[in-house]
Amino acid sequence: MVFLHKFLENRGGILYIDGVSAVELADRFDTPLYVLIENRIRENFRELKGALLKHYDKIRIYYSAKANTSLAVLKILNNEGAYLDAVSPGEVFLALKAGFKPERILFTGTNVRDDEIKFLVDSGVIINVDSLSQLRRLLKIHIPEVLSVRVNPEIGAGHHEHVITAGRNSKFGIWETDIFEAYKMALSAGVKRFGIHMHIGSGILDIEPFLLAAEKMLKIADQVHKKLNVTFEFMDFGGGIGVPYKPNEKPLNIDEFASKMLTLFKRFIAENRLGEPFFCIEPGRFIVCDAGVLLTRVNTLKITPFKKFIGVDAGFNTLIRPAIYGSYHPIIVANNLNGLEKETYDVAGPLCESGDILARDRRLPEVYEGDLLAILNAGAYGFSMSSQYNSRPRCAEVLVKDSRCALIRERESLEDLSRGQRLPDWLK
Ligand code: LLP
Repeated sequence: MVFLHKFLENRGGILYIDGVSAVELADRFDTPLYVLIENRIRENFRELKGALLKHYDKIRIYYSAKANTSLAVLKILNNEGAYLDAVSPGEVFLALKAGFKPERILFTGTNVRDDEIKFLVDSGVIINVDSLSQLRRLLKIHIPEVLSVRVNPEIGAGHHEHVITAGRNSKFGIWETDIFEAYKMALSAGVKRFGIHMHIGSGILDIEPFLLAAEKMLKIADQVHKKLNVTFEFMDFGGGIGVPYKPNEKPLNIDEFASKMLTLFKRFIAENRLGEPFFCIEPGRFIVCDAGVLLTRVNTLKITPFKKFIGVDAGFNTLIRPAIYGSYHPIIVANNLNGLEKETYDVAGPLCESGDILARDRRLPEVYEGDLLAILNAGAYGFSMSSQYNSRPRCAEVLVKDSRCALIRERESLEDLSRGQRLPDWLK
């Protein structure tokens, strides 16, 4: 059986999540239920921060809010001293609400509308432009004091084609040949302070692509510095640090990542006299992934001559990663952790689509109606990608800490499904 860390415990065959019984959580708050572990979020953040600080003082960790935008999570990370990576006005709104200061928020949207640019300007966040078009439109609206430019370093990586965000086919970032134009335009408009940014993809378990892309971005920064005399206040190497999901996957070694990235960075900035910019990264998954568990109740068992299906109440409306990326999530029977894994099941959700499968051919103990499954590594891109598909209200979220628990997001009601809908006169 897989146990990811010390906050998941087997007490007499029952899963305890930082001291709280998963069975009691499910009984009290109903299922499906996302359970987030505050101490694990803090531990992940501190591990990364500690590893980076061993090599360089001027570091910033921008938590990538898209992984999980629950206010409680944002508040925890603000409290830890994180900065924030936002990609939509909604994420900016939530981050401000959770207490992030606007100057600690970096906005990295793509295909951004003018009214959204205005919203960002009014909010006072730092803008990281993704295209010359966006930059031109921004400068017409407002000349910011600080500006960052996202480059496409041509090297992309990620756990699935859909999450690779650099390279020739990628819609993200400004191509090398347009970078000078971007900084020139900003300089002549009167922008004073600068950053440079890249993000190559998500779920990366090798250090190599990070190093190759970082080297490329550093070279671009150096050219911009030499040609235009721009000094960089910060250099942001993006998110993407992977987390193992499958039993045979190895974690990316964080100390090695920090050491190799910062050795490259420090050598390059020293050799090329690029000053002392802040070294920034933007992890989302690494901070929250293994701090989240999705609890889902078994309602149906269906045995055919070919398959044994476990029918549960969470589908791809609740956790979409298996359906859209074919992602694997560890699954355990939370009320029977000591059972021998002697059956092979497909775990299926309640949606009317054949792709609504959370796991195929999974070895589990014998499962019964009423059992409680825990889907692990569900803290990143779980709730934040959930939907009301099939008109199923979105589920609740609970935070646990030191044997305590608190509801941090109410389960939606049936009424929420019709909220905001109107009937035209002719249908009334
Ligand atoms: N920075 C930028 C600009 C990003 O676009 C992303 C993720 C991150 C940082 C954080 O990446 P992370 O450290 O979490 O890998 N829904 C997909 C992941 C999409 C990631 C999109 N961008 C999944 O569930 O695997």
